[in-house]
Amino acid sequence: MTDATIVFGLAWGDEGKGKVTSQLAASGKFDMVCRWAGGNNAGHTIYKGGKKYKTHLIPSGVFYGIPSIIGPGCVIHWDSFLDEIEYLKSSGFDTSLVKISPRAHIVLDEHIEDDIRNLSNHLGTTSKGIAPCYAAKAFRSGLRVEDVKEIKEMGFVWDEILGEKILCEGAQGFWLDMDWGNYPYVTSSTTLPYGACSLGFSPKDVSSIIGIAKMYDTRSGEDPDFPISLFENEELEKLANLGSEFGVTTGRRRKVNYLNLDKLIKAIRVSGADSVILNKADILEKANIFKLFHNNELKQFKNIEFMKRYIRNNIWSYDIKTNIRFSSNPEKI
Ligand code: IMP
Ligand code: MG
Repeated sequence: MTDATIVFGLAWGDEGKGKVTSQLAASGKFDMVCRWAGGNNAGHTIYKGGKKYKTHLIPSGVFYGIPSIIGPGCVIHWDSFLDEIEYLKSSGFDTSLVKISPRAHIVLDEHIEDDIRNLSNHLGTTSKGIAPCYAAKAFRSGLRVEDVKEIKEMGFVWDEILGEKILCEGAQGFWLDMDWGNYPYVTSSTTLPYGACSLGFSPKDVSSIIGIAKMYDTRSGEDPDFPISLFENEELEKLANLGSEFGVTTGRRRKVNYLNLDKLIKAIRVSGADSVILNKADILEKANIFKLFHNNELKQFKNIEFMKRYIRNNIWSYDIKTNIRFSSNPEKI
């Protein structure tokens, strides 16, 4: 019997999921950590033993000696995967814990070329070949892990046996989902927590859904909801600098805006998050800027406590049974 805890992004990615999953993985309560969607378009930042690590595809269980699964809904660029394995091995981690679903699809170099040529400019993709690979999957012309003899011989193929207590690590976020995001400014996979069931368990096996957001919004990549003019706002620039809002995967500067509470509430309701963690409260405090959009109006608060209370009250008034926590620490909740 599997009992699943799902951590996922409530916004546009970059919410601090890596911090939350690594703290949960370190708790010793989980016997498996799994990724269910995306590829190396993601970027996870993990602090361990005073050191900062960056991964793109490999789940954070490997930092804590826990079997780490890349699920059937993921896509893998093989050379990038091996580079990541090398990086983790040379940092002293046991990479034999990493397993990949035989059903996962392979990102080919031609997918990357196609992404760079046809998508990256107008959609601001990460140029990792993600959309062309998922397109090939949908068109039934894709190449799967189980089709590649050398990969099978390397011992990375997962036997599809799930642990009893599994932690599912989301990638990207609610508003980048194919169905819920601002299409076509979306990624190519299911970022909502129900997508985790593609790992091979039933929705009935989910015991906890933890949504991660930030106290302000950020967007890497093109999106008409995040116009370029946001770069010209001094306050938002201050937040971007204090919050180091640069992409882990692409190095691009992220567009920053005040928290959109209407969108956050919608994401909580649709996804069914029963816990919500709002990161980077410390950045608002450092900047001394306490604003958010609600009912399409910009609201301003005297200090962080007033802003937190407003968020709590308004999420509760929608009758969502959600625990809300605010975090002011880059390394833990
Ligand atoms: P793709 O996933 O590379 O096709 O990119 C599609 C959109 O999703 C672009 O706007 C990217 O910037 C965005 N995106 C993809 N992965 C991430 C992520 O991990 N964090 C933030 N944005 C992402
Ligand atoms: Mg990320």
